Amino acid sequence: MKLVFLGPPGAGKGTIAAEAKKVYGIPHISTGDLFRANIKNGTELGKRVQAILAAGDLVPDEVTIAMVEDRLEEDDAKAGFILDGFPRTIAQADALAGMTQLDRVVNFVLDKEAIVRRLSGRRVCKSTGRTYHILYNPPKVEGIDDETGEPLIQRDDDKEEAIRNRLEVYEASTAPLIDYYRTKGLLVDIDASKSPEEVLKSMVEALS
Ligand code: AP5
Repeated sequence: MKLVFLGPPGAGKGTIAAEAKKVYGIPHISTGDLFRANIKNGTELGKRVQAILAAGDLVPDEVTIAMVEDRLEEDDAKAGFILDGFPRTIAQADALAGMTQLDRVVNFVLDKEAIVRRLSGRRVCKSTGRTYHILYNPPKVEGIDDETGEPLIQRDDDKEEAIRNRLEVYEASTAPLIDYYRTKGLLVDIDASKSPEEVLKSMVEALS
């Protein structure tokens, strides 16, 4: 199964992908996670994109496309994948069409108020990327990762100004992909406002 997860920041793409990858036995490829891993490891790419991510702007298409092309060539992605956060522009979607043929594009639909609530309450474990929410999915001990015991942090781009910018960038550059994929007959809309278990269930049903 070759899937793209589309939707505004904070819609729950990463949360659902972490479970869906087990359902389908395919890797979860998140461009945001790949960039953050490069930043954490201090690579040249990481240095180049750090300020872009913190501000909530988009990394240039050619950099992102090259990174995804390399990742899709790895063995584990041959039989299928969940692409989370890519494509985010029409140019990226056109490039992806030249790399592979998608089965479906899942569009996670969530209103703006819920998006802001989810993003502002998100906390992550920096070393593993595990994601929590202070209200909806709290850790067992406040501020501490359940498995590693490390302190949880707030992503730089989950601060108020960056959230506002990410929503504007989403509307301007990424939302047009909804029509792009609907026209191709690939789009499946999923109501992302329910619990993660319900969202996953309705997606699996819609894809079957
Ligand atoms: P990326 O990491 O992809 O950020 P995003 O798309 O903004 O998505 P998020 O990770 O913020 O949200 P999500 O939908 O995965 O939600 P989550 O599951 O965490 O990208 C970061 C940056 O990298 C970009 O801004 C850009 O700079 C760069 N970048 C990445 N891809 C790029 C590309 N293709 N081109 C150019 N630049 C690119 O959930 C959010 C919160 O809600 C969590 O706290 C979670 O616990 C909670 N939650 C989730 N689901 C539910 C639910 N059903 N009910 C209640 N709470 C829930």
